[in-house]
Amino acid sequence: ALTRRALGAGAALLLLGGAALAQAPILIKFSHVVAPDTPKGRGADKFKELAETYTKGRVKIEVYPNSQLFKDKEEVEALQLGAVQMLAPSLAKFGPLGAKEFEVFDLPYILPDKAALRRVTEGALGRRLFAKLESKGITGLAYWDNGFKVMSANKPLRMPAEFRGLKMRIQSSKVLEAQFRALGAIPQVMAFSEVYQGMQTGVVDGSENTPSNMFTQKHHEVQKYLTFSDHGYIGYAVITNKKFWDGLPAEVRGELEKAMREATAFANEAASRDNAEALDEMRKSGRITFLELTPDEKAAWKAALEPVTAEMSKRVGKDVIEEFQREAK
Ligand code: LMR
Repeated sequence: ALTRRALGAGAALLLLGGAALAQAPILIKFSHVVAPDTPKGRGADKFKELAETYTKGRVKIEVYPNSQLFKDKEEVEALQLGAVQMLAPSLAKFGPLGAKEFEVFDLPYILPDKAALRRVTEGALGRRLFAKLESKGITGLAYWDNGFKVMSANKPLRMPAEFRGLKMRIQSSKVLEAQFRALGAIPQVMAFSEVYQGMQTGVVDGSENTPSNMFTQKHHEVQKYLTFSDHGYIGYAVITNKKFWDGLPAEVRGELEKAMREATAFANEAASRDNAEALDEMRKSGRITFLELTPDEKAAWKAALEPVTAEMSKRVGKDVIEEFQREAK
């Protein structure tokens, strides 16, 4: 009897083991550099929730916010090596990947508004840019919004001449580098997670970012002025490792695509709200002064930044810039 019971238990264990193996979930590590309560942070969390529900537990998503796993540059390498499966880098961070066409989004004043953005990302150029990634072993899944950038510094910035000699933190985009050089500033590439400290210690004098990024990183506590310049935009491309993605069972990939479509709508809605709320909070904090530009000042910024587009046309591609301008119109 004892033997039979032992045998029975063994068989049950074996069965259990087999079932557990068959159901071992597919793990997706989604790494990003911003706080959870930002447009991208919320989008990633929403994707996790929907993807796990739609795949009925066959896929497990682990979201790592706040550069917990990797900083800006490392996360892209980690994706290519397969150490993580999903990222949503800012469109200004694709140059080092060899997809410098994405820097078209950084050209000063190229985007009149969000509607224009949608025409570009959901149109032929959006698809063409994603196709470009395939040869790098990366698949583009969606474009996510953040919003228009404001300029911040420890001195008031109303006219281009006031940028002269200022050290300005930038994302790793050559277009952003050219933008600050055109203003007479000294651009400095710095990982997002290091910006607060850079501002606090004076390694940089200022930066450009969206209100939600500024507020969640407490930049308003170490910057005195914020200028509404609307000169540029920050958005994201959600990307995955192509080999990993193509290797997924088709029905799982289908559910993940559905989850991504819905998470995209969710993130885009969060973006407008988060940026408006962040501005409110920063205003209420009383720690940073907001500056509106007069029409003359705005015209001076535009004139100072105008040469950047021609200067960068070789790098970004004249055809890409023209297609962007056509679709944005
Ligand atoms: C930045 O580096 O300023 C942004 O790209 C951060 C982000 O992901 O929004």
